[in-house]
Amino acid sequence: MTQRIALVTGGSRGLGKNAALMLAERGTAVILTYNSNQQAADEVVAEIEGKGVKAVALQLNVGDVASFEAFALDVQHQLKNVWNRDTFDYLLNNAGVGIAVPFAEASEAQFDELMNIHFKGPFFLTQRLLPLLADGGRILNVSSGLARFALPGYATYGAMKGAMEVLTRYQAKELGPRGISVNIIAPGAIETDFRGGEVRDNPQINKHIAGQTALGRVGKPDDIGGAMAALLSDDLAWMNAQRVEVSGGMFL
Ligand SMILES: NC(=O)c1ccc[n+]([C@@H]2O[C@H](COP(=O)([O-])OP(=O)(O)OC[C@H]3O[C@@H](n4cnc5c(N)ncnc54)[C@H](OP(=O)(O)O)[C@@H]3O)[C@@H](O)[C@H]2O)c1
Repeated sequence: MTQRIALVTGGSRGLGKNAALMLAERGTAVILTYNSNQQAADEVVAEIEGKGVKAVALQLNVGDVASFEAFALDVQHQLKNVWNRDTFDYLLNNAGVGIAVPFAEASEAQFDELMNIHFKGPFFLTQRLLPLLADGGRILNVSSGLARFALPGYATYGAMKGAMEVLTRYQAKELGPRGISVNIIAPGAIETDFRGGEVRDNPQINKHIAGQTALGRVGKPDDIGGAMAALLSDDLAWMNAQRVEVSGGMFL
C-alpha cells in the first residue's frame, strides 16, 4: 500500500497535535498547520520525524478565506517536493478556538470570528483543497458535544459546530461519486489549552464534568487523537456521513 498523507489543521497543539502523532504512529505522513505558534509546530514535526515518518508544518489562518489560494499552492508544492505526489489522502479540519459568551450578549464581531474559524473557514478550505484530495480519500470534520447538549455561553460556538454537522452530510453525499467519505467527530470536554485551558486547570469545572461523565473523568488529548486517526483510517472506509461522539459518555 502506498504511504498515506494527512493534512491536519491546528496540528501544533491540543487535539490536532495528538492526532498528528497518532497518524504518524500508523505510518501516515503529515502536513500540519499552525496559526501563530511556529515553534510548537516545529516541535511536532521533529517528534513525528523521530518516528521515521515525514512531516512538514505550514502557516494557516483558517479564518482568512482570502489566504486559502496561496495555502493550497503551498500544499501542492510540498506534496511534490517532499513526497513526489500531486494529492494527499486524509483531511482533518481540526483548527479552532473557544469563545464563550451568552446568547443575549454576543456581539456581531464575536459571531463573525466564530463563524469564520469554525464554519466558513472549513467550508471554503475544504472546497479549495478538493483538487488536491485523492479520489477515495477521507475527510474528518470536528464538532463538539456542545452541538448536542446546551451549556450556557456556547450558543454561537455550538451553532457553528451544528452547521458543520449538517455540512458533513452534504459533503458526504456530493463527494461520494469521487469515493471520498466524510465524517465528523464530536469530542466531549478535553484537557487542552482550549478556552485558556479551563477544563484542565479549573478544578471546579474539571470535577463537575467528571461527575457528569459515565467513565468518571474529563477527556485527555490521548483519548481523541487516536480516535481521530482511527476514524480517518482505511479500516473505517465504509463509514460515511456519521457523527461520532467521543466523550467518555458525557451528559447521557
Ligand atoms: N478541547 C476541548 O474540550 C474540545 C471539545 C470539543 C471540540 N473541540 C474542538 O477541537 C478542535 C481543537 O481544539 P483544541 O482543544 O485542540 O484547541 P487548542 O489546544 O487551543 O489548539 C488549537 C489549535 O488550532 C490552531 N488555531 C487556533 N486558531 C486558529 C486559526 N484562526 N487558524 C488556524 N489555526 C488556528 C492553534 O494553532 P497555534 O498553536 O498556532 O495557536 C492550535 O494548533 C477545535 O475545533 C475545537 O473546537 C475541543
